[in-house]
Amino acid sequence: MTATATTDLPMFPPEERPRGPFEILRDEDRKRWESNRVSRVRLPTGGWAWLLTRHADVRQLLRNPYVSSDSNRPGFPLLRELLPPDEQDRRGAFIVMDGAEHARLRRMLTAEFMIKNIRRIEPLIRQTVVDALDAMRAAGPPADLVTSFALPVPSMVICHLLGVPYADHDFFQSRSGTLLDRTAPLEDIRSAIDELRGYLRDLVDAKRTAVEPGDDLLSRLATERVATGELEPEELVGVALLLLVAGHETTANMIGLSTLLLLQHPEQFAALRERPEQAEDLVEELLRYLSVIRTGLLRVAVRDIEIAGQLIRAGDGVIGMLSLANRDPEVFTDPEGFGLSPAAHQHLAFGFGVHQCIGQPLARAELRIALVELAHRFPGLALTVDPADVPVRDNSVVYGVTRLPVTW
Ligand code: HEM
Repeated sequence: MTATATTDLPMFPPEERPRGPFEILRDEDRKRWESNRVSRVRLPTGGWAWLLTRHADVRQLLRNPYVSSDSNRPGFPLLRELLPPDEQDRRGAFIVMDGAEHARLRRMLTAEFMIKNIRRIEPLIRQTVVDALDAMRAAGPPADLVTSFALPVPSMVICHLLGVPYADHDFFQSRSGTLLDRTAPLEDIRSAIDELRGYLRDLVDAKRTAVEPGDDLLSRLATERVATGELEPEELVGVALLLLVAGHETTANMIGLSTLLLLQHPEQFAALRERPEQAEDLVEELLRYLSVIRTGLLRVAVRDIEIAGQLIRAGDGVIGMLSLANRDPEVFTDPEGFGLSPAAHQHLAFGFGVHQCIGQPLARAELRIALVELAHRFPGLALTVDPADVPVRDNSVVYGVTRLPVTW
């Protein structure tokens, strides 16, 4: 294969042989992909994009000022059809914005997610984790660890932070799942966005007019930014939507997939109990090894740029494959192995550059507390099915397990 031949993207189903949940590439594919630093890949929506798989190249892409995250730009590499631009309501969705527009909204949130502020809510995270584990024990065994633990914990925490009633979790979790499903019909996407925006609009309106403002992020933004005219009410609705979806889906899938992996590495599961001081390092290794954003990060060049010796023209789409960058042998000594290593901290699971995950201190705290408490309270945790039979979410932008049947 030469750098200009176009090939199918190996990460997306359907594939002849399904890969296991921890196998990012089949061996035969890896050889093919490793021989080229930059490749052209066919997209599921037609057209093609450049694919970058090396750690250094993906970083270079994500910090390049001449690439855009705006999926409405011509040439943007789409993994599924989008609603026509005039039917999209993107107000507040800063993850698809560039430059000053992106920075203005992101800046309003940075302090909220700083490590020192997340430390303050650690007792609440721990209590949420312990309560979920107590409820799981009281109802089982057996149990589905996804519905009883992995999904509720980050959902409850983000609800608490934002000031969204957790009682509405069935409603927002199902719509959020549709938004991330690459195979969902456009009509379903449209309804999911409309319904979520409608729901959050009512919530934001109630917070704006409350006599006693609540002690939550949406109330603070409503009183400190909307009331002062710095933020439009509909922008706050969009910010709330982004935080609600991004704030629970990714961490939930990391907890589920991490548990499946740790049950197959009992020595690491036991280490969480015996040496909890190593939990932070283990979380970094889990983020590296599992890379739940398996579709990669999507960008379009707005000027001619060069990465890894390849000219990428203005209007060309580019995909930075985080999952492969996180297994780059130039950075990680045993990239396909799972185990503690100082290099794990260099992973790109949270992205890189201006859009790097704003929720990472929160995600790290949730993962560490959830996994340490699980290992402490359920030392005999075991799968009730063959690991190969655990159902995975192949169609979602966020990879993970849909169910995790366990006993203890
Ligand atoms: C393990 C869990 C998580 C992973 C793996 C993850 C991953 C990512 C990645 C890769 C990006 C970069 C997107 C891009 O460059 O296009 C991102 C951005 C973002 N994440 Fe996370 N995330 C996680 C948890 C969270 C949480 C808990 C929140 C909630 C607050 C959150 C909120 C966001 C937001 C708002 C952005 C957009 C930032 C921007 O565009 O400036 N994420 N995340």
